[in-house]
Amino acid sequence: MKECSIIILDFGSQYNQLIARRVREMGVYAEVVPFYEPLDKILARKPKGIILSGGPASVYAEGAPTLDKALFDHGIPVLGLCYGMQLVTHLFGGEVARADKQEFGKAELIIDEKDAALFQNIPNNTKVWMSHGDHVTRIGEGFHAIAHTDSCIAAVVNPEKNIYAFQFHPEVTHSEHGRDMLQNFVLEVAKCEKNWSMDNYIESTIKAIQEKVGDKKVILGLSGGVDSSVAATLIHRAIGDQLTCIFVDTGLLRKNEAKTVMEVYSENFHMNIKCVDAEERFLSKLKGVSDPEQKRKIIGKEFIEVFNEEAKKFEDAEFLAQGTIYPDVIESVSVKGPSVTIKSHHNVGGLPEDMKFQLLEPLRELFKDEVREVGRQLGIPHHMIDRHPFPGPGLGVRILGDITKEKADILREADDIFIEELRKADLYGKVSQAFVVLLPVQSVGVMGDERTYEYVASLRSVNTIDFMTATWSHLPFDFMERVSNRILNEVKGINRLTYDISSKPPATIEWE
Ligand code: XMP
Repeated sequence: MKECSIIILDFGSQYNQLIARRVREMGVYAEVVPFYEPLDKILARKPKGIILSGGPASVYAEGAPTLDKALFDHGIPVLGLCYGMQLVTHLFGGEVARADKQEFGKAELIIDEKDAALFQNIPNNTKVWMSHGDHVTRIGEGFHAIAHTDSCIAAVVNPEKNIYAFQFHPEVTHSEHGRDMLQNFVLEVAKCEKNWSMDNYIESTIKAIQEKVGDKKVILGLSGGVDSSVAATLIHRAIGDQLTCIFVDTGLLRKNEAKTVMEVYSENFHMNIKCVDAEERFLSKLKGVSDPEQKRKIIGKEFIEVFNEEAKKFEDAEFLAQGTIYPDVIESVSVKGPSVTIKSHHNVGGLPEDMKFQLLEPLRELFKDEVREVGRQLGIPHHMIDRHPFPGPGLGVRILGDITKEKADILREADDIFIEELRKADLYGKVSQAFVVLLPVQSVGVMGDERTYEYVASLRSVNTIDFMTATWSHLPFDFMERVSNRILNEVKGINRLTYDISSKPPATIEWE
């Protein structure tokens, strides 16, 4: 079992992945594991420090998540955050109560014990981010307070057991010196070594792939997206021509997608790529279908069929590689609830039983920004690494209603102009996801002396951190004007353009 310097026990906070990312940014390997992970398994990872995450529960609630108190008997420094602080207090005989009012937002932290290890080089007064309903009213045995706010005991320590706890969230950027406090815990208290870096990762993963694969063959479904592209490049670096990628052109991809993918990965990187033109197949299965979920099902099923047919041609391939990344495999209590059932792996293709591949998932441990860094270090061009996410069903869910080749071509042109203009205006990297949607509505217009009756399209651009919530991007009017002029003049088939100003919730990012 791989050693892990900092283990984050997940009590359901929406911020738990952020804690792991913050720690990794310091050059220290951290993983999130569910709060019910057995103690012996935690200890087997030889953690140097343990962080207890926040969570939505109340420690007195029936079935509230808890942990084995023996965790504190092994001399491993512990930092409890929010629920983590309440839990530590509860376990050590203190008292937690519902606060008169929930505290949510910035608060002024006043440090009372300036020489506490976690407050080294932190100003005496600093802003921190609070998000809690309960708070500590009596400190646990062996603890004393080291900081407070107007309304609560904000930080405590048990020096003998090396346990620290904060009511606030140091992991979010609104906590001004939160990162420094976490760093004090990770580097000064837990004394972790900084040995987590992407160049180390690339080197050790290449070796691991070579050992695992030997002289066997590997196939991989290349989508052109960041994850599968980086996985392919890394594996190619390790085993060269033993890797074959299968790229399926569904006819629902962006303009020139197949061409670009072939240029970058086949011509420049010399990878073996089998490009399958399945446009007709997909479009004929989708003919006349307008229900979004049915379209998704058809596209998903067809994709697996096409991929499997191709994969079967590589009889001697023993491994199937996938671009699964850490957030796909994390057993997240916050996302799935405390009754989470454990996924064995994230098998996107849903391959049939008779395909006896072994899985190869070289990015399983990485967050998205780490995957991008690996991609950059492997020399993948910037425009392929900084790409916005693109949904699996592709334009199938951006052509509202039934799908035809004509509509897909119109949408491709419009979308390409929008993205090109975003890049030119240096806005592409400032928004999280942008695209055009083709509406199943036609409107009257004029062109020269003629009346036209053509499609309405909508621009969509959102800003988001986690894609669970999103706000619409405040794009400049002169930019919108340029995009509108170009799309309405250059794309035959669209004569009216709108901008979607809906946030998520209540809307979603995609329209279908
Ligand atoms: P929504 O529309 O749910 O989208 O706010 C959130 C994120 O998920 C992407 N998305 C999908 N990705 N298959 C995918 O692989 C899908 O069916 C799908 N639907 C939405 C969407 O592009 C956004 O990034």
